[in-house]
Amino acid sequence: MTAYTLGTLLYEGKAKRVFQTDRPDLVAVEYKDDATAFNALKKAQLAGKGELNCQISARLFELLEREGIPTHYRGLQDRHWMLVKPVRIVPVEVVIRNIAFGSLCKQMPIGPGTPLEPPLLDLYYKDDAFGDPLLTEARLARLGLLTDEQRVELERLAHAVNGALLRFFADIGLQLVDFKIELGFTADGQLVVADEISPDTCRLWDLQVSDARDRILDKDRFRQDLGGVVEAYGEVLKRVQGVCPEPRIYG
Ligand code: TMP
Ligand code: ASP
Repeated sequence: MTAYTLGTLLYEGKAKRVFQTDRPDLVAVEYKDDATAFNALKKAQLAGKGELNCQISARLFELLEREGIPTHYRGLQDRHWMLVKPVRIVPVEVVIRNIAFGSLCKQMPIGPGTPLEPPLLDLYYKDDAFGDPLLTEARLARLGLLTDEQRVELERLAHAVNGALLRFFADIGLQLVDFKIELGFTADGQLVVADEISPDTCRLWDLQVSDARDRILDKDRFRQDLGGVVEAYGEVLKRVQGVCPEPRIYG
């Protein structure tokens, strides 16, 4: 018996569908097998990816909660379904980089692999039609997306997430190169980490492997046509499961 009934589709993104439920405090998220990159110019179906990302995300949200970082997570339902609190997503992608890679090295004279200490935090405006452009503080204020106080809180939470994830991944032999998170406001106005945290949204390198391609265990395998995408995500889940075996089941 489930403690809720699935309602209408609220939103369909590139990798997830979000459904209303008959409970105002509960939203159901279905993780899809669709993979996209370069603002959906590149697309594929990767059987099993949805389940892997759902299972990895659940455990990472639980880890963050244990570290005192609030998230939208309420529990897993099924292999690729998660129950979360309804939030008003802030249309800002928060990226933290510990090692220079990806778009940073295309836009700045910083070589791939350069350690970034302190980690670099960038905000991007989440809007595919505009190609998710880099935000400045002035642009953020102009768009009226966050007050100064809310921006400070969002950046504080993002740095706390980085600290927790860096340590956690290092313990399971993975280098957290960079990641993207999204945050949202709950009905009572609390800012919480939302969306997902998975190899779709993090760059993860295997610390035991020196080859620059073979060590990649994230969506760059898809972006760069390296193959073995689902296998790489499976390896990440296997290591995460070694430390966090069973996430809570909702209901
Ligand atoms: P970038 O180097 O392409 O800017 O990506 C930085 C991090 O953000 C990387 O871990 C991948 C993640 N990311 C997303 O999750 N979604 C996106 O749409 C993009 C562009 C990056
Ligand atoms: N998530 C983005 C897309 O689907 C970009 C990326 O992750 O590379 O196009």
